[in-house]
Amino acid sequence: MTEQTATLGVDGSNFTYPVLDGTVGPEVVDIRKLYGQTGMFTYDPGFTSTASCESAITYIDGEKGILLHRGYPIEQLAEKSTFMEVSYLLLHGELPTKSELDEFVYTISRHTMVHEQLATFYRGFRRDAHPMAILCGVVGALSSFYHDSTDITDPAQRMIASHRLIAKMPTLVAMAFKYSLGQPFMFPQNSLSYTGNFLRMTFGVPAEPYEVNPIIENAMRRIFILHADHEQNASTSTVRLAGSSGANPFACIAAGIACLWGPAHGGANEAALNMLREIGDVKRIPEYIARAKDKNDPFRLMGFGHRVYKNFDPRAKVMKATADEVLKELNISDPVLDVAKELEHIALNDEYFIEKKLYPNVDFYSGVILNAIGFPTDMFTALFALARTVGWVAQWNEMIADPEQKIGRPRQLYVGATQRDYIPVGDR
Ligand code: CMC
Repeated sequence: MTEQTATLGVDGSNFTYPVLDGTVGPEVVDIRKLYGQTGMFTYDPGFTSTASCESAITYIDGEKGILLHRGYPIEQLAEKSTFMEVSYLLLHGELPTKSELDEFVYTISRHTMVHEQLATFYRGFRRDAHPMAILCGVVGALSSFYHDSTDITDPAQRMIASHRLIAKMPTLVAMAFKYSLGQPFMFPQNSLSYTGNFLRMTFGVPAEPYEVNPIIENAMRRIFILHADHEQNASTSTVRLAGSSGANPFACIAAGIACLWGPAHGGANEAALNMLREIGDVKRIPEYIARAKDKNDPFRLMGFGHRVYKNFDPRAKVMKATADEVLKELNISDPVLDVAKELEHIALNDEYFIEKKLYPNVDFYSGVILNAIGFPTDMFTALFALARTVGWVAQWNEMIADPEQKIGRPRQLYVGATQRDYIPVGDR
C-alpha cells in the first residue's frame, strides 16, 4: 500500500481517504468510510470509475490493449495453451504441472454427463426457444441435482460445483442445439478434447461416426480461451453480486447467463451477425454508417466499441487471424463475409469511429467464424456463456474465499416523490 491519500473537501471540512495500490493499473481511493464520515454517497452509474472488488485473476489495460490472465498475455495463451489449462490457471492462479493438468482434465471429463432427468427439462421448452433462455433455466436447475456441492463455505464443495459447471456447460449447450433441431442428444465422449467433444455433441449424430476437423477444433479452442474471463464485466459482476448473498453457485451462474444475453454484452456476437445479414450488400454500408452516427437514431454498429478497450481489443486481433484461417479452410463464400470485411474497412477509416475510438471488438469476428463453422446465430451467445463459465466460477470462488467479502448493496441518488399521505381511491 502507498502512503498516498486523497482528500475530499465538503462544506469547509476535509476528509482524507487511503489510496490503495494494485500490482499494476490505476490506484483506487478507498471510500468505504465516506458515508459514515460525511453522510454522502458517491454517484457512478454504470460503474465507470468504481472498483467493486479486489481481484488477482485478470488484468486489462484498455488504453494499451493488454489482457492478462494471472499475468499471462492472452495472445500467448490463445496461441500456445489449451482451454483446460487456461481454466486451471484461472481457478488456481498458476499454470498446472503435467500431472496437475492430467488430473484436472480427468476430473472435468468425469463430470461431463448430465442427469437423465435434466433432459426432461428441455422437453418443456418450445423447439424454437432461444438457447440462452434454455440455459438460464437448466443451469439454475442444476442446483436441484447437486445437494452435495451447495455449502459454499466449504472450499472442496465450491471446487466440485466449479468442476461440474465447467464440465457440463458444453453438454448443456449442445443439448440446446440438438433440441432445436429435433435430433437426439449426444452423450459426451471423454477421449476427445474439451472442444472436440463439444463439436461432436453439437454436430455429430448417433447414426454416424464424427470426425473432428482439427482447424475447427483449434478455432473453437481459441474462441473459448478468448472468452474465458474479462475481469469485472457486467455478467461477472452479476455473478459476484448474486453470490455475495450466499446464493448457490448454479443459481449465480444462471444469473450471469441472463446478464450476458444482452446485446450490449455477450449478445453482441449474435446481434453483429444479424446486422451484417440485414445490411446484406456492401452497397448499403454507407446507409448504416450514417445511421450509427445519427444521434437521433438508436442504431449502433454491433460488434464495435468497448467500455474498456479504447485502442484495440487484443482478443479481436487473435479472433481476426482465426477468422481468416477458418474461412480459408472451409473455402466459404458468403455475402455476409464481404459485408463484414468492407464494414470493418470503412469504419476503421471513418473520422467518427476513429475519434470515438470505436474498433471492431471480439464479438465482431467471433460471429463471422461461428457463422462459417455452421452455428446458427442464436447459438453464438450460448457459446460465449460456455467459455465464460470458467471465469465466472473463478471470480465467484475468489469472492467467497475473501474474508472481507460483504453482500453487494449499492446505494442510490433518490429523485422520486418525498413523503406524502395516502389518499383513498375514491378521493383521487
Ligand atoms: N456504434 C456507433 N456508435 C457507438 C458505438 C457503436 N457500436 N459504441 C459507442 N458509440 C458511441 C456512442 O453513441 C457515444 O457517442 P457520444 O459520445 O456522441 O454520445 C460514444 O460512442 C460512447 O459510447 P458509450 O455508450 O458511452 O460507451 P460505453 O463504454 O458505455 O459502451 C459498448 C460500450 C460496448 C456498450 C458500446 O460500444 C456498444 O453498445 N457497442 C455495440 C455492442 C457491442 O458490440 N458489445 C460488445 C462488447 S465486447 C464483448 C463483451 O464484453 O461482452
